[in-house]
Amino acid sequence: MAGSCTRAASAPEAVRRCPPAVERCARARILAVIRRSTVPEDPAHAENTLAWLLRLAPEADCALRIAALAHDIDRALPEGERVRRADFDDYDAFKAAHARNGARVLEGILRGCGAPGPLIREACRLVALHEFGGDPRADLLRDADSLSFYETNLPLYLAREGEAEALRRARWGYGRLSPRARDLLATIRHGEAAVDRIIARCAEPGRP
Ligand SMILES: [Fe+2]
Repeated sequence: MAGSCTRAASAPEAVRRCPPAVERCARARILAVIRRSTVPEDPAHAENTLAWLLRLAPEADCALRIAALAHDIDRALPEGERVRRADFDDYDAFKAAHARNGARVLEGILRGCGAPGPLIREACRLVALHEFGGDPRADLLRDADSLSFYETNLPLYLAREGEAEALRRARWGYGRLSPRARDLLATIRHGEAAVDRIIARCAEPGRP
């Protein structure tokens, strides 16, 4: 597993190259935006997605680390700038638009931090793909994001959205987990019956 993990995170040197000052700048500016999110779990989710990324791939490079922190930055934007669920009939189309808008915002932040072009392109590409994956690196970010939803977001999501919507969202997330991430999901328990029941039910046979 560790070997496949290492390959999953490998990238050309031009992409991995990340001056420490650039990463510090990117991190500070990304978190400054996310702290203003109206979704209370967003700051913790950004850090927890990065933590899951580093658990799945301890050697994850700078583009992956920045993308993990920034992947949901769209959701933290002011009204009128963020993608709204109400504007989409289809949940997947909403998620894809959310990811693309996040990539656009991240590009501006990274340019402002003086990031090298290949790093900007790769970090933004990963954010644009974070909901659905598509290659080993994007799949890695999608798994980290998904696992963090169950660990960090789900209790607040359930309290805010109710059981039916939380179960729908949990099942949608389960459908995009890799087999390895599904095994790790089985280790996440909150000690709150209502939350743990949703985690258990999202993996029921015959469900998406
Ligand atoms: Fe996320």
